[in-house]
Amino acid sequence: MDKSIKIFAPATVANVGPGYDVLGLALDNIGDYMELTLNDSGVIKISMSDPDLPTDPEINVAGVAARALLNHLKSKKGVTINIHKNVKAGSGLGSSASSAAGAVYGVNELLGQPLTKLELVPFAMAGETASSGKAHADNVAPSLLGGFTLVRSYNPLDVIKLSYPTSLYVTAVHPHIEVKTSDSKKMLKKEISLELAVAQWGNLAGFVSGLASSDFDLISRSLEDLIVEPIRSMLIPGFETLKEAAKNNGALGCSISGSGPSVFALCENKSVADKIGAAFKGIYNQLDINHDIHISQINPKGCKTLEPSYEIL
Ligand code: HSE
Repeated sequence: MDKSIKIFAPATVANVGPGYDVLGLALDNIGDYMELTLNDSGVIKISMSDPDLPTDPEINVAGVAARALLNHLKSKKGVTINIHKNVKAGSGLGSSASSAAGAVYGVNELLGQPLTKLELVPFAMAGETASSGKAHADNVAPSLLGGFTLVRSYNPLDVIKLSYPTSLYVTAVHPHIEVKTSDSKKMLKKEISLELAVAQWGNLAGFVSGLASSDFDLISRSLEDLIVEPIRSMLIPGFETLKEAAKNNGALGCSISGSGPSVFALCENKSVADKIGAAFKGIYNQLDINHDIHISQINPKGCKTLEPSYEIL
């Protein structure tokens, strides 16, 4: 019988505060559920719960990522991948990254773990290129590894898993408008002033240091994006109101999740996260904007194998 596996690949928040393209975190309770079955035919087949996404394995992010890994391993195997998504594409919550990360995680498990999760990151990045035209790792790395991850360098790739206070919660609101990562990348300026760069790398170092020492004041002071947020926030309805409400209700900070339109607030604990969820809901109800609210702890482990009896609905 062909070997099968069921897996969960978490959704993610990328561009955490000052960490454009380098800092990401994994969410605990939303992401992709996938079933992968290895075959001897060498063919990759994709089926998908979201009718708006392609199932051609040469375009689908999971297909592209799985092919990149199989080629690297010089494997003659193929794989059938059934993807159940509960994060909408274009939400800014790392939807394509979950599929890419889940595909390489699942194939690697089925082949007996020839690579570590860290070594899988470049193959998941190949999937991201298929979706956004650029191989950023700040979604696929936390989806694979869990927790907060830092891309210290892209060339050569150097991804680091960070220490963080495990009490942290995230509240994310997803307004139902679509923002394509490729489009919102084009909006950004190619050059910034040295003054702005100094302020941003001060915040990034402060944020990472605050996470490591559980210094919530430092995390809060540092959770500020002076470069990308002012430009991309123009695409997000009510952004300033959401941000103000997050601060007033005790968030450590609030910014854009990935390339938007989702907005996230980082919170010290669940009761703050719940309060902010209610405030976000009130704001978007008043603006008559359909939305989803996600309240989640940080997922510590990233992609994981589910029991064979787990029912993927
Ligand atoms: N770092 C990427 C970007 C994340 O901002 O384009 C996309 O989710």
